[in-house]
Amino acid sequence: MHTPLRYLGRSGLVLVALVAATACRSRDGFTGEEWAVIQSLSPLPALPVNTTNRYRDVPAAAALGQQLFFDARISGPIQAGTPREGQLGAIGETGKIACRDCHMPESVWLIDTRSDNGGPVPHATSLGSKWMTRNASSIVNTVFYVNARTQAHWRENDGYSDSEWFDAQSEPEGPPVQNGSRLQLVHLIERHYRAEYAAAFPDWPLDRALSDTVRFPSTGSPYTDTANWNRLSSGDRELVNRVLVNYGKAMEAYLRTLVSRNAPFDRYVAGEAGAISADAKRGLALFIGKAGCVQCHNTPLFSDDDFHVIGLQVDTIRSPHADPTEVGRAFNQALICDSTVAGGDFRVNGHFSDDTTVAHDRTFCTRTIPPGLWRTKALRQVAQTAPYFRNGQAATLDEVIAFYDRGGDPVGTFLGDPKEIRPLHLTGDERGQLKAFLLTLTGDPVAPALLRDTHKR
Ligand code: HEC
Ligand code: HEC
Repeated sequence: MHTPLRYLGRSGLVLVALVAATACRSRDGFTGEEWAVIQSLSPLPALPVNTTNRYRDVPAAAALGQQLFFDARISGPIQAGTPREGQLGAIGETGKIACRDCHMPESVWLIDTRSDNGGPVPHATSLGSKWMTRNASSIVNTVFYVNARTQAHWRENDGYSDSEWFDAQSEPEGPPVQNGSRLQLVHLIERHYRAEYAAAFPDWPLDRALSDTVRFPSTGSPYTDTANWNRLSSGDRELVNRVLVNYGKAMEAYLRTLVSRNAPFDRYVAGEAGAISADAKRGLALFIGKAGCVQCHNTPLFSDDDFHVIGLQVDTIRSPHADPTEVGRAFNQALICDSTVAGGDFRVNGHFSDDTTVAHDRTFCTRTIPPGLWRTKALRQVAQTAPYFRNGQAATLDEVIAFYDRGGDPVGTFLGDPKEIRPLHLTGDERGQLKAFLLTLTGDPVAPALLRDTHKR
């Protein structure tokens, strides 16, 4: 038998012990032990505290983040793609791709419904400056990705960075994403957002010298226009990096406002017995029991913010721009551990951090990380964020559930070993119940004011 206890981490066990000690009551057919597991999944807690960004909850910083989220002028030259594929400009054009063009307010959960790969699964991956290999999953509630074991805040499907502000820095400069540069970003802020920047970061006044385009060329970063970047003195790089970091901190402040609560499942756990259907309750029992989903999809976000091998064979017919050679978690060790890789030390315990005592995972830089590890996806609002998996190759939840039911794909067809899932042998009814449960995880949409285009013209 697979008891739900087997699937809980250390913090979960503590919780079970606590709840069992105070009120080991059964409810709605669930044992007291099962109910304790269910309570560990709801409600979403208060926002996690990230002391490495002391501007994280400053309203002026969030407002600046929102403006820049809608500002396409942070993007560099378009490298590929056609209008039919959803490309937003001609090859070579700059200033065309904003965050909002892949995390789209009109999709409610900020997913990409624009990029058109012409294949069998619409919008599987995103078209930025060129095609990305990944699906733009919802960015609502991503602030809750916290690893319970290490308290690390690993971002993105491969754990690209160790904080929200470090992560936000990667998008404008990512060659397939916006292909811009930190010098371009600095000039955008210095020309159009001087007052807003001063309000958000009163202790970091913008250096007047930044408007000198001879000393600070209009483009340049460690990734694009590297000649311009390499020409800067180390002191000037520091000036630019400080603005880049503060941009990331402003973006984190904005992302922290994109929260959705009060899903039918939350109302059920809070005591509203009829908030979810009888089928969904059977699906919940499977999720925490026989199907073993809660082993990885735990915490109120339904993700342990940890990395696993589920055995997914990358299907480049269904997702034409996916890349079967991507190694996942192992790729980013250098980025986080070698402070020169991103052109500056942006780690949580690096010198741009507001709390250098934080070191999220002390063994991360010294251990060998095998290929094929990917972060557990959160499952909040999953009913409305198709397609699924990191490369969007599954079009429906039925396909995802069928994947888990068969125990993933055959060994040898994917990177990573050993595979952490096994065949479930669910009946047709049980597969339907599991899906009915997943449909109860959609909360209230984000307030419209947070999704307004506020960028300055
Ligand atoms: C061309 C499309 C595109 C653009 C433009 C884009 N993103 Fe993304 N974004 C993605 C994709 C794809 C992912 C998933 C990447 C992954 O996890 O591997 C993602 C992931 C994210 C995440 C999720 C992090 C997590 O831990 O799950 C955040 C937050 C985010 N983007 C913010 C931004 C911000 C802020 C901007 C603008 C500065 C931006 N994105 C621009 C495509 C885009
Ligand atoms: C061993 C850990 C593990 C177990 C057990 C597990 N998952 Fe996952 N799940 C993951 C990981 C990791 C991903 C992301 C994989 C990827 O995209 O490469 C994922 C992705 C998903 C997605 C896609 C979400 C999205 O937005 O793309 C769904 C839905 C899902 N899992 C549901 C389930 C269900 C239902 C079960 C139980 C039958 C389950 N998972 C069991 C680790 C796990």
